[in-house]
Amino acid sequence: MAIHVQLLRIVPDRVQFRPLTIPLQKNAKGRYIDVTPTTRHMKESAPISDLGPDSVAQITPELRKLLADVFALYLKTKNFHWHVAGVHFRDFHLLLDEQATQILAMTDAIAERARKLGGTTLHSVGEIAKYQRIRDNNEERVPARNMLAELCADNQALTRHLRAAHQICEEHHDVATNSLIEAWIDETERRAWFLSQILQEP
Ligand SMILES: [Fe+2]
Repeated sequence: MAIHVQLLRIVPDRVQFRPLTIPLQKNAKGRYIDVTPTTRHMKESAPISDLGPDSVAQITPELRKLLADVFALYLKTKNFHWHVAGVHFRDFHLLLDEQATQILAMTDAIAERARKLGGTTLHSVGEIAKYQRIRDNNEERVPARNMLAELCADNQALTRHLRAAHQICEEHHDVATNSLIEAWIDETERRAWFLSQILQEP
């Protein structure tokens, strides 16, 4: 049987009513259920990727932790960009802004890789705090050299986490995620290189 309902459709500057037919079928318990193809597809959670559920179950948590780390590193880099002080203020302030922009650009791609595989990703700031391995720095005042040293170590840690994720993706033949990770390792090593070279100064 089919029923007809009036759906309310909201468009930017007006509200419309759109007629829609929803086919219903009786299930084993005698209840009518919606069997439209779209709804059925969603209920069955058809796999998006051909990698298989086991691979998705292994890769998705790695991407979630990486995303939490990247958000943590982004905010710490911005924190130090805002709070750095001293004779090299201009250089450090600009360098950290440049690095923060590069770090932020990773976030959407990490989250969308998880979704393309059929997994889920972070939902909130609370989940960032739950999964991040790169620790926050809530100190009121941090000397400029300590800021750079801490960020250098954090970027080196992120490189290790990226390599670990790369290893897992390789085991599951996820070449697309690895292609992104390889570029991010290069960028992360470049950030660590810049920071470490400044720290060479006497
Ligand atoms: Fe700024």
